[in-house]
Amino acid sequence: MDILSSGSRLSALEGASNTTDVHYLLQIASQSLLKHFAEICEGAVVVDRQARVVWMNEQYPKRLGISNLKTVIGQPVELVLPNSLMREVVETGRPIMLDIMSFGSESFVVSRLPLHDEQGLVIGGIGLMLLDDARNLAPLVSRYNQIQQELQDTRQQLAIARRAKYTLSSLIGSSEVLTKLKAQARRTACSNATVLIQGETGTGKELLAQAIHNASARADKPFVAVNIAAIPEALLEAEFFGAVAGAYTGADRKGRQGKFKLAEGGTLFLDEIGDMPATLQAKLLRVLQEGEYEALGSDQLLRADVRILSATSRDLAQEVAQGKFRADLYYRLNVVPLNMPALRERLTDLPLLCEQLLDNLSHKQGGSPRELSTEALDYLAHYAWPGNVRELQNVLERAVMLSDSFVINLDEIQALLPGVQTHTLLAESHPHPEAAGLAANSLSFTLAQAEYQAIQAALQACGGNKAKAATRLGISRTSLYEKLATYRPN
Ligand SMILES: Nc1ncnc2c1ncn2[C@@H]1O[C@H](COP(=O)(O)OP(=O)(O)OP(=O)(O)O)[C@@H](O)[C@H]1O
Ligand SMILES: [Mg+2]
Repeated sequence: MDILSSGSRLSALEGASNTTDVHYLLQIASQSLLKHFAEICEGAVVVDRQARVVWMNEQYPKRLGISNLKTVIGQPVELVLPNSLMREVVETGRPIMLDIMSFGSESFVVSRLPLHDEQGLVIGGIGLMLLDDARNLAPLVSRYNQIQQELQDTRQQLAIARRAKYTLSSLIGSSEVLTKLKAQARRTACSNATVLIQGETGTGKELLAQAIHNASARADKPFVAVNIAAIPEALLEAEFFGAVAGAYTGADRKGRQGKFKLAEGGTLFLDEIGDMPATLQAKLLRVLQEGEYEALGSDQLLRADVRILSATSRDLAQEVAQGKFRADLYYRLNVVPLNMPALRERLTDLPLLCEQLLDNLSHKQGGSPRELSTEALDYLAHYAWPGNVRELQNVLERAVMLSDSFVINLDEIQALLPGVQTHTLLAESHPHPEAAGLAANSLSFTLAQAEYQAIQAALQACGGNKAKAATRLGISRTSLYEKLATYRPN
């Protein structure tokens, strides 16, 4: 039936006010329309006032994998079409025209219209899924598909970027201290316990945190790292908990998702936790205790399902003793303490580390892999490595750039790290009480020797860092310099 021409005949009949004919014709028209749509639509469905399916065209059940149409009649529409918006249409009485709905890999243009009775009351609705060769809509559908694809790709990339890169096997080393640490980390990965990783800079604290996450049941959920020291204090709260639109001056118009939200279901790594200001310490403590938080500018409580790992290169226990860090938060964070050993405490790992790091460098830079001569390696083993593995990485990277040969030799390493005493380790390389001109049997000599040994031990423990050694000894830095000067030969 030609719908347009039937429409014009209809108005002519209405003009003649032959109501019986009009009603008859209207009935025929709607039946024909339905038949027509049933033929041209991939899917057509009619629901009643309660959004229950009352009719479907033949194609629809086939698309849905339903063999018997009778089984869907009378069912709530969402049970048959899970994403259906028909209920919204019958409840609001408003049509939803030209929506796009996905079915497997295909997308269709869907229109949903309310059906009114003679008094204008909504008695149901009709949903029409247009055939995909509706040519004029093809550009719209293809644009929609393209956007969907882009969205999916971006989501995937984000998920990959969020996924932690390292596993426990990325922590190179087989020294006793590292092997023990890895075993501890493996055990803790199975639990949800908060872990505090302490260690000098460059020892691999972040690497360990990522490895723990990857070995845990949360591995396929996000790993979100926040470097507290790198964020201005004023922004920290929003960064952590998020902010609703317009919550603070300069806040995004749409609000902001906090790291707790981003890490939902996964792990939140709080790096440089010792730098956390007191106000935020209190708020973090509350999340750890109650598992709840509020976004900035909102009073809605949100639940946090996040595992907390934190790290610091500071002596956090000392910060607690000095009142700079909350004791209650410290205990909450430090349920499992893990100490990353300094490189100088695991020098047996040096050959393997150098080999692996040089391999990684050649992969990254595309050159052939390099080796260190035995003398060069021995020289490196006498250095105190205050910057630990990161510093080793940097030294090797520079050595690779400077050296043309396959084997990096002693000279080339010496040029990069001058002044390392190869025959005497750090402690012995420092001045000695005899240099202070004291008689060997005198009490002053014995006391000076004890003091000297204490200073050497502190220097050794602090990688030669005099400021840290002074703190460790409980004396001022100037006082340490003065003492060292006394022992220095003229
Ligand atoms: N055991 C290790 N095996 C291999 N690479 C390591 C190891 N430890 C550290 N690294 C590498 O050293 C670099 C520094 O590691 P990371 O950033 O984890 O240290 P960090 O302790 O967090 O340092 P900082 O305190 O300065 O933040 C990284 O490139 C990391 O891959
Ligand atoms: Mg770090």
